Amino acid sequence: MEITRLIDQSSADENLQRDQFAIDVLTGLCASPKNLSAKYFYDDIGSEIFQTITQHQDYYPTRTEFEILNTIKDQLPEMIGEQEIDIIELGAGDGHKSKLIIDGFLNATCKVNFYPIDISEKAMVMLRESIPPHPNLTIHGVVAEYFEGLRLVRKKSTNKQLVLFLGSNIGNFDRVQNQGFLRNLWMSLNASDHVLLGFDLKKDVGVLTAAYNDSCGHTKEFNLNLLSRINKELGGDFDIDKFQHFGVYSPILGAMESYVLATESQDVFISALQRSFHFDAYEPIHLEYSFKFLKSDIDFLSKKTGFNVKAHYSDPKEYFVDSLWQVNK
Ligand code: AVI
Repeated sequence: MEITRLIDQSSADENLQRDQFAIDVLTGLCASPKNLSAKYFYDDIGSEIFQTITQHQDYYPTRTEFEILNTIKDQLPEMIGEQEIDIIELGAGDGHKSKLIIDGFLNATCKVNFYPIDISEKAMVMLRESIPPHPNLTIHGVVAEYFEGLRLVRKKSTNKQLVLFLGSNIGNFDRVQNQGFLRNLWMSLNASDHVLLGFDLKKDVGVLTAAYNDSCGHTKEFNLNLLSRINKELGGDFDIDKFQHFGVYSPILGAMESYVLATESQDVFISALQRSFHFDAYEPIHLEYSFKFLKSDIDFLSKKTGFNVKAHYSDPKEYFVDSLWQVNK
């Protein structure tokens, strides 16, 4: 497996990333209501906690999508109809889901060039372990932001492309961001390329709420880890025991929202910002949206952003959809 790194891991670059983190924390904690960007959940500890969440019984999306992909993996090669395909995965993670799809194409005797793109070098290492070598498979990992990575892959790629954006990652964008993301994707692809997108569907509020308030407290730990990360990387003095996790469904937004609430009035000093922030008792910090969709929302999004829906693949309970779209140009 060849790996190209577009993200520099040098200390100069680390300083730049830390400065950006500090600026975003400053902006978020000066806002009203206060907020912190969910993109900072995923340091090494946060990524590990997220893996634990995905294995918990209450968090249905990962296992449900896995079931769907396992059911459709042998249908995809025929739906796409190519003898050689470039599969590009945005945010590839540990590669367990990608492996299912790759296996489907290899079983249909197709040649597969797999380009996982992830900002985490660690993800590439996990991926290497989950996808065994095969004579008809080449793997070229790209450590980069999504669109930077896509630009690089497009320079190398001569075949039709299938882009994977799984796990309902699209649900962590708001409605303006998700259209921007999909338009950008459309611009990066050629006519009749395909994308396979994972969407979490609207469902019983009890099921949704349990998934983001799991009984073992992994989600709570995941959210509070962001405050610990500020302590570690920016010299903050958040007392984690004085904040509580709160995950709630907003039917108006159609999204699960995650907050941490200060359980008493307090001031928090952040050394990298040389200032403190006041929290009233039960003041929230907004951390994350996880938008949920109807199939009609998905159809609307595809039309709005230049794609045709070829198929919606769902599980028997209709909890989740993997939707196969084709670029319309
Ligand atoms: C990564 N993303 C799709 C997860 C979600 O369900 O929104 C992140 C997550 N947050 C809390 N639990 C899981």
